[in-house]
Amino acid sequence: MTAAFSFSSIDKTFSSKDGGEVIALQNVDFDVRQGEFVTVVGPSGCGKSTLLRILAGLEVPTSGTVSMGGVPLSGPSRDIGVVFQVPVLLPWRTVLQNVLVPAQIQRRDMAAATAKAQEYLDMVGLAGFATKYPGELSGGMQQRVGIARALVNEPKVLLMDEPFGALDAMTRESMNVELLRIKERSGTTIMLVTHSIPEAVFLGDRVVVMSPRPGRVTKIVEVDLPKPRPLSIINSDAFGAYVSDIRANLQAVGGLD
Ligand SMILES: Nc1ncnc2c1ncn2[C@@H]1O[C@H](COP(=O)(O)OP(=O)(O)OP(=O)(O)O)[C@@H](O)[C@H]1O
Ligand SMILES: [Mg+2]
Repeated sequence: MTAAFSFSSIDKTFSSKDGGEVIALQNVDFDVRQGEFVTVVGPSGCGKSTLLRILAGLEVPTSGTVSMGGVPLSGPSRDIGVVFQVPVLLPWRTVLQNVLVPAQIQRRDMAAATAKAQEYLDMVGLAGFATKYPGELSGGMQQRVGIARALVNEPKVLLMDEPFGALDAMTRESMNVELLRIKERSGTTIMLVTHSIPEAVFLGDRVVVMSPRPGRVTKIVEVDLPKPRPLSIINSDAFGAYVSDIRANLQAVGGLD
Protein backbone atom coordinates (compact mmCIF):
# COMPACT_ATOMS: atom_id res chain seq x y z
CA MET A 1 0.00 0.00 0.00
CA THR A 2 1.21 3.52 -0.74
CA ALA A 3 2.20 5.38 2.39
CA ALA A 4 0.16 8.46 3.28
CA PHE A 5 3.47 10.27 3.40
CA SER A 6 7.17 9.46 3.62
CA PHE A 7 10.19 11.27 4.93
CA SER A 8 13.30 10.11 3.06
CA SER A 9 16.72 11.05 4.45
CA ILE A 10 15.60 14.47 5.66
CA ASP A 11 18.26 16.87 6.90
CA LYS A 12 17.54 20.41 7.95
CA THR A 13 20.17 22.99 8.83
CA PHE A 14 19.33 26.56 9.77
CA SER A 15 21.82 29.39 9.48
CA SER A 16 21.74 31.54 12.56
CA LYS A 17 22.04 35.34 12.59
CA ASP A 18 25.61 35.20 13.94
CA GLY A 19 26.71 33.19 10.93
CA GLY A 20 26.69 29.81 12.66
CA GLU A 21 24.62 26.81 11.72
CA VAL A 22 22.06 24.85 13.66
CA ILE A 23 21.49 21.29 12.60
CA ALA A 24 17.83 20.72 13.42
CA LEU A 25 17.20 17.37 11.75
CA GLN A 26 19.52 14.60 10.68
CA ASN A 27 18.63 11.72 8.40
CA VAL A 28 14.98 11.45 9.33
CA ASP A 29 13.50 8.56 7.47
CA PHE A 30 10.09 6.98 8.06
CA ASP A 31 6.73 6.32 6.42
CA VAL A 32 3.29 6.97 7.78
CA ARG A 33 0.54 4.64 6.67
CA GLN A 34 -2.84 5.74 5.36
CA GLY A 35 -5.19 6.34 8.28
CA GLU A 36 -2.46 5.94 10.84
CA PHE A 37 -2.11 8.05 13.98
CA VAL A 38 1.58 8.74 14.54
CA THR A 39 2.81 10.67 17.55
CA VAL A 40 6.25 12.24 17.85
CA VAL A 41 8.01 12.78 21.18
CA GLY A 42 11.37 14.32 21.88
CA PRO A 43 13.05 16.98 24.00
CA SER A 44 12.60 20.70 23.41
CA GLY A 45 14.54 21.98 20.41
CA CYS A 46 15.04 18.56 18.79
CA GLY A 47 13.29 19.57 15.59
CA LYS A 48 9.73 18.32 16.09
CA SER A 49 8.07 21.51 14.87
CA THR A 50 10.56 21.71 12.01
CA LEU A 51 9.65 18.19 10.90
CA LEU A 52 5.97 19.03 10.98
CA ARG A 53 6.52 22.32 9.15
CA ILE A 54 8.42 20.49 6.41
CA LEU A 55 5.47 18.17 5.91
CA ALA A 56 3.12 21.16 5.93
CA GLY A 57 5.17 22.65 3.09
CA LEU A 58 6.14 25.66 5.22
CA GLU A 59 9.81 24.76 5.45
CA VAL A 60 12.09 23.20 2.83
CA PRO A 61 14.48 20.43 3.87
CA THR A 62 18.20 21.02 3.28
CA SER A 63 18.35 17.57 1.75
CA GLY A 64 16.05 14.61 1.38
CA THR A 65 12.46 14.45 0.18
CA VAL A 66 8.98 14.31 1.61
CA SER A 67 6.29 12.72 -0.47
CA MET A 68 2.57 12.43 -0.06
CA GLY A 69 0.86 9.45 -1.65
CA GLY A 70 4.10 8.76 -3.51
CA VAL A 71 4.34 12.25 -5.01
CA PRO A 72 7.12 14.61 -3.85
CA LEU A 73 5.72 17.56 -1.93
CA SER A 74 6.35 20.98 -3.40
CA GLY A 75 4.60 23.37 -1.02
CA PRO A 76 1.49 23.61 1.12
CA SER A 77 -1.23 21.14 0.15
CA ARG A 78 -4.94 21.64 0.55
CA ASP A 79 -5.18 18.06 1.78
CA ILE A 80 -3.19 18.92 4.89
CA GLY A 81 -4.62 20.69 7.93
CA VAL A 82 -2.31 22.13 10.56
CA VAL A 83 -2.78 22.93 14.23
CA PHE A 84 0.16 25.09 15.32
CA GLN A 85 1.86 25.16 18.68
CA VAL A 86 0.52 28.69 19.18
CA PRO A 87 -2.84 29.37 17.52
CA VAL A 88 -2.58 32.31 15.15
CA LEU A 89 -6.07 33.77 15.16
CA LEU A 90 -7.23 36.94 13.45
CA PRO A 91 -8.21 39.25 16.34
CA TRP A 92 -10.72 41.25 14.29
CA ARG A 93 -12.71 38.19 13.28
CA THR A 94 -15.11 36.25 15.46
CA VAL A 95 -14.43 32.67 16.51
CA LEU A 96 -16.73 31.35 13.77
CA GLN A 97 -15.14 33.60 11.14
CA ASN A 98 -11.69 32.39 12.21
CA VAL A 99 -12.72 28.76 11.86
CA LEU A 100 -14.03 29.55 8.38
CA VAL A 101 -10.76 31.04 7.08
CA PRO A 102 -9.49 27.83 5.39
CA ALA A 103 -12.91 27.24 3.82
CA GLN A 104 -12.83 30.77 2.38
CA ILE A 105 -9.29 30.36 1.07
CA GLN A 106 -10.31 27.17 -0.69
CA ARG A 107 -13.56 28.71 -1.90
CA ARG A 108 -15.79 26.09 -0.37
CA ASP A 109 -19.54 26.31 -0.25
CA MET A 110 -19.92 28.64 2.74
CA ALA A 111 -23.30 27.37 3.94
CA ALA A 112 -21.96 23.83 4.19
CA ALA A 113 -18.68 25.06 5.69
CA THR A 114 -20.55 27.09 8.32
CA ALA A 115 -22.48 23.99 9.35
CA LYS A 116 -19.21 22.06 9.62
CA ALA A 117 -17.60 24.90 11.57
CA GLN A 118 -20.48 24.88 14.07
CA GLU A 119 -20.18 21.12 14.39
CA TYR A 120 -16.45 21.29 15.13
CA LEU A 121 -16.84 24.23 17.52
CA ASP A 122 -19.39 22.17 19.36
CA MET A 123 -17.00 19.23 19.42
CA VAL A 124 -14.17 21.28 20.95
CA GLY A 125 -16.57 22.61 23.58
CA LEU A 126 -17.00 26.12 22.16
CA ALA A 127 -20.58 25.92 20.90
CA GLY A 128 -21.59 29.09 22.74
CA PHE A 129 -18.59 31.15 21.64
CA ALA A 130 -19.05 31.43 17.88
CA THR A 131 -19.69 35.17 17.98
CA LYS A 132 -16.96 36.03 20.50
CA TYR A 133 -13.58 37.48 19.51
CA PRO A 134 -10.24 35.73 20.20
CA GLY A 135 -9.31 38.42 22.75
CA GLU A 136 -12.31 37.35 24.83
CA LEU A 137 -11.09 33.74 25.10
CA SER A 138 -8.56 32.02 27.35
CA GLY A 139 -5.38 30.58 25.81
CA GLY A 140 -6.78 27.07 25.94
CA MET A 141 -10.00 28.15 24.25
CA GLN A 142 -8.03 29.89 21.50
CA GLN A 143 -6.11 26.67 20.95
CA ARG A 144 -9.39 24.81 20.56
CA VAL A 145 -10.50 27.34 17.93
CA GLY A 146 -7.28 26.46 16.07
CA ILE A 147 -8.24 22.79 16.17
CA ALA A 148 -11.73 23.44 14.83
CA ARG A 149 -10.18 25.58 12.08
CA ALA A 150 -7.81 22.79 11.03
CA LEU A 151 -10.71 20.35 10.81
CA VAL A 152 -13.19 22.51 8.93
CA ASN A 153 -12.05 21.36 5.47
CA GLU A 154 -11.82 17.75 6.68
CA PRO A 155 -8.23 17.31 5.45
CA LYS A 156 -6.79 13.92 4.55
CA VAL A 157 -3.79 14.58 6.77
CA LEU A 158 -3.93 16.47 10.04
CA LEU A 159 -0.70 17.79 11.57
CA MET A 160 -0.82 18.86 15.20
CA ASP A 161 2.05 20.58 17.01
CA GLU A 162 1.56 20.19 20.77
CA PRO A 163 -2.09 21.12 20.37
CA PHE A 164 -2.99 20.47 23.99
CA GLY A 165 0.13 21.83 25.69
CA ALA A 166 -1.64 24.91 26.99
CA LEU A 167 -4.73 23.10 28.25
CA ASP A 168 -5.41 22.06 31.84
CA ALA A 169 -5.07 18.35 32.55
CA MET A 170 -8.80 17.64 32.56
CA THR A 171 -9.60 19.42 29.31
CA ARG A 172 -6.55 17.81 27.80
CA GLU A 173 -7.76 14.31 28.64
CA SER A 174 -11.19 14.92 27.23
CA MET A 175 -9.67 16.45 24.07
CA ASN A 176 -7.52 13.33 23.69
CA VAL A 177 -10.57 11.07 23.86
CA GLU A 178 -12.43 13.35 21.46
CA LEU A 179 -9.53 13.35 19.02
CA LEU A 180 -9.47 9.54 18.92
CA ARG A 181 -13.20 9.63 18.24
CA ILE A 182 -12.76 12.06 15.32
CA LYS A 183 -9.98 9.88 14.02
CA GLU A 184 -12.13 6.73 14.13
CA ARG A 185 -14.97 8.53 12.39
CA SER A 186 -12.99 10.29 9.68
CA GLY A 187 -10.08 7.95 8.97
CA THR A 188 -7.82 11.02 8.76
CA THR A 189 -4.08 10.34 8.90
CA ILE A 190 -2.71 12.24 11.89
CA MET A 191 0.78 13.22 12.99
CA LEU A 192 0.87 14.83 16.42
CA VAL A 193 3.85 16.23 18.26
CA THR A 194 3.83 16.22 22.05
CA HIS A 195 6.12 16.55 25.07
CA SER A 196 3.98 14.10 26.99
CA ILE A 197 4.97 10.44 26.74
CA PRO A 198 1.61 9.20 28.13
CA GLU A 199 -0.25 11.35 25.61
CA ALA A 200 1.92 9.97 22.79
CA VAL A 201 1.13 6.38 23.86
CA PHE A 202 -2.57 7.00 24.42
CA LEU A 203 -3.10 8.54 20.98
CA GLY A 204 -0.53 6.79 18.83
CA ASP A 205 -0.67 3.69 16.68
CA ARG A 206 3.09 4.29 16.62
CA VAL A 207 5.29 6.61 18.62
CA VAL A 208 8.32 8.16 16.91
CA VAL A 209 11.00 8.93 19.50
CA MET A 210 13.54 11.65 18.68
CA SER A 211 16.97 12.41 20.15
CA PRO A 212 18.06 15.83 21.41
CA ARG A 213 19.32 18.20 18.70
CA PRO A 214 20.33 17.36 16.03
CA GLY A 215 17.04 15.50 15.93
CA ARG A 216 17.26 11.93 14.76
CA VAL A 217 14.67 9.20 15.05
CA THR A 218 16.02 6.85 17.70
CA LYS A 219 13.12 4.47 17.91
CA ILE A 220 9.64 3.83 16.54
CA VAL A 221 7.36 2.05 18.99
CA GLU A 222 4.32 0.15 17.72
CA VAL A 223 1.54 0.63 20.31
CA ASP A 224 -0.43 -2.57 20.36
CA LEU A 225 -3.29 -1.43 22.58
CA PRO A 226 -6.90 -2.05 21.50
CA LYS A 227 -8.95 0.70 19.85
CA PRO A 228 -11.19 2.42 20.68
CA ARG A 229 -9.19 3.26 23.77
CA PRO A 230 -11.03 4.29 26.89
CA LEU A 231 -9.22 6.77 29.15
CA SER A 232 -9.00 4.05 31.80
CA ILE A 233 -6.45 2.24 29.64
CA ILE A 234 -3.81 4.60 31.03
CA ASN A 235 -4.01 2.69 34.32
CA SER A 236 -3.22 -0.66 32.70
CA ASP A 237 0.13 -2.45 33.02
CA ALA A 238 0.51 -2.65 29.25
CA PHE A 239 0.14 1.13 28.96
CA GLY A 240 2.65 1.68 31.76
CA ALA A 241 5.12 -0.62 30.03
CA TYR A 242 5.02 1.45 26.82
CA VAL A 243 5.54 4.66 28.78
CA SER A 244 8.54 3.23 30.68
CA ASP A 245 10.05 1.84 27.51
CA ILE A 246 9.89 5.21 25.74
CA ARG A 247 11.11 7.07 28.83
CA ALA A 248 14.09 4.72 29.09
CA ASN A 249 14.87 5.28 25.42
CA LEU A 250 14.76 9.06 25.82
CA GLN A 251 16.93 8.81 28.90
CA ALA A 252 19.47 6.67 27.06
CA VAL A 253 19.91 9.32 24.35
CA GLY A 254 20.09 12.13 26.91
CA GLY A 255 16.66 13.49 26.14
CA LEU A 256 15.37 13.64 29.71
CA ASP A 257 16.76 15.92 32.36
N1 LIG B 1 13.61 29.61 11.39
C1 LIG B 1 14.63 29.18 12.14
N2 LIG B 1 15.85 29.78 12.08
C2 LIG B 1 16.89 29.34 12.81
N3 LIG B 1 16.83 28.30 13.67
C3 LIG B 1 15.65 27.68 13.77
C4 LIG B 1 14.49 28.07 13.03
N4 LIG B 1 13.46 27.24 13.36
C5 LIG B 1 13.96 26.38 14.26
N5 LIG B 1 15.26 26.63 14.52
C6 LIG B 1 16.14 25.86 15.42
O1 LIG B 1 16.02 24.49 15.08
C7 LIG B 1 15.98 23.69 16.26
C8 LIG B 1 14.70 22.86 16.27
O2 LIG B 1 13.57 23.73 16.47
P1 LIG B 1 12.10 23.19 16.58
O3 LIG B 1 11.22 24.37 16.78
O4 LIG B 1 11.81 22.31 15.44
O5 LIG B 1 12.18 22.31 17.92
P2 LIG B 1 11.03 21.57 18.73
O6 LIG B 1 11.44 20.15 18.88
O7 LIG B 1 9.72 21.84 18.11
O8 LIG B 1 11.11 22.27 20.16
P3 LIG B 1 9.92 22.56 21.23
O9 LIG B 1 9.61 21.23 21.84
O10 LIG B 1 10.55 23.48 22.21
O11 LIG B 1 8.77 23.16 20.50
C9 LIG B 1 16.11 24.64 17.42
O12 LIG B 1 17.46 24.69 17.81
C10 LIG B 1 15.71 25.98 16.85
O13 LIG B 1 16.39 27.01 17.49
MG1 LIG C 1 8.04 22.84 18.69
